[in-house]
Amino acid sequence: NSELQNQLKKAAATKAADYVKDGMIIGLGSGSTVRMLVDELGRRVQEENLQFTGVSTSISTAEQARSLGIKIVDLDAVNAIDLTIDGADQVDRNFNGIKGGGGNLLWEKIVAVNSKKLIWVVDESKVVNQIGAFPLAVDVEPFGSGHILKQFSNAGFNPVVRIGNDGQLFKTDSNNIILDLHLHKIDDPGKLAETLTNIVGVIEHGLFLGMVNEVVVGKQAGPEILVN
Ligand code: A5P
Repeated sequence: NSELQNQLKKAAATKAADYVKDGMIIGLGSGSTVRMLVDELGRRVQEENLQFTGVSTSISTAEQARSLGIKIVDLDAVNAIDLTIDGADQVDRNFNGIKGGGGNLLWEKIVAVNSKKLIWVVDESKVVNQIGAFPLAVDVEPFGSGHILKQFSNAGFNPVVRIGNDGQLFKTDSNNIILDLHLHKIDDPGKLAETLTNIVGVIEHGLFLGMVNEVVVGKQAGPEILVN
């Protein structure tokens, strides 16, 4: 993460914060870009008396938001989310994206499908012609996961068991493990998504295909909005 990339992320996150209005129910994504968004929303809550209710896609975002005075409720406590703002690892021109770099893809996808509108905030380096250079996270049930690892290897998916910053096996907020597939490029995202979904023990994968409504792209000339 270069300094420039962080500046672009921050400018885009601040722009995306404008979408949040009084009374809305807002899904809050996860990752470093969303952290900047939540900082800005916290500032508006404290300084401008912005009033909204948040639904979080991770324990860490919920903790950050609460520490800034943002009200966070459980997904099951709301009927529908007006708008979810999240980050992404890569997105192509057909609005197919990869998420899960931070390991929160399962809750992120559940929140996304329960949202009326989904916005991603990225810096321009993440907008690509073809997704797949970023490793694809697959959320897997630990029981029997060695067999899934073998199956992925045999399929040529180059799976790597994710290890956390602490050097231990990475565990998601649901206590699952993550297998990162080093695919380099994904020719048919729809077919790959179907293959992964059909494997027993795979809980969810990081392909978010055509789900996003708008992408706020941080660029040197200023944020640009791509509309699906
Ligand atoms: C979290 O699991 C991911 O889906 C993030 O949304 C994604 O990795 C983007 O993260 P950054 O904002 O940290 O780049």
